[in-house]
Amino acid sequence: MPLPSLVASMPPLIGKFLVAITVRLAAIADFDFVAQDGYLPSAVVRRKIDAQEVLIAHANQEPLGYARFEYIWSRVPYLTLVWVVPDHRRGGVGRALLSFLESYLQRLGYAALWSSSTATETEPQEWHLRMGFTPAGRLEGLNANGLTEVFFRKPLTGRHQ
Ligand SMILES: CC(C)(COP(=O)(O)OP(=O)(O)OC[C@H]1O[C@@H](n2cnc3c(N)ncnc32)[C@H](O)[C@@H]1OP(=O)(O)O)[C@@H](O)C(=O)NCCC(=O)NCCS
Repeated sequence: MPLPSLVASMPPLIGKFLVAITVRLAAIADFDFVAQDGYLPSAVVRRKIDAQEVLIAHANQEPLGYARFEYIWSRVPYLTLVWVVPDHRRGGVGRALLSFLESYLQRLGYAALWSSSTATETEPQEWHLRMGFTPAGRLEGLNANGLTEVFFRKPLTGRHQ
């Protein structure tokens, strides 16, 4: 399957400078940056990099954010995590990562992207809505801490799946 173009997007404002954000599939050399949330064991992050399920965003050679995704039932794309360096938030990095992922999945023939957020985390929910996701249900009992998980769905092609 052909890989998407290495450059995803967009001309957002990073700090006070207008720079291009580059998004690409992460390589093993990016491990420290894309594992920094500490949520996954190292071996799992390495496996996901190998499986081409991790994205990294740069501007001027500086890593600014990353995203991890996977496939529910091995066939439904699910955005597991988007994380942007705090000083660079609200500069379009999250949007660039999502845009790249949408193009990548469309090229692979997928019709929709799913995502989720803990119900108490209002900022990620606002970002999902701003990015064109629509609420798609709530799930109790998934989080060990008892919090509700809110799911979102975004069509990729106009088809519904
Ligand atoms: C959520 C997160 C990924 C957003 O990335 P970002 O690069 O800061 O967001 P962007 O600049 O791409 O935002 C795109 C749009 O969403 C808006 N937006 C971003 N964060 C928002 C928020 N908390 N509330 C409302 N709108 C928000 C932006 O203003 C922008 O709006 P525009 O269309 O008018 O330009 C980032 O804040 C982050 O890393 N948060 C911590 C980790 C996290 O919670 N991840 C999400 C759950 S997995």
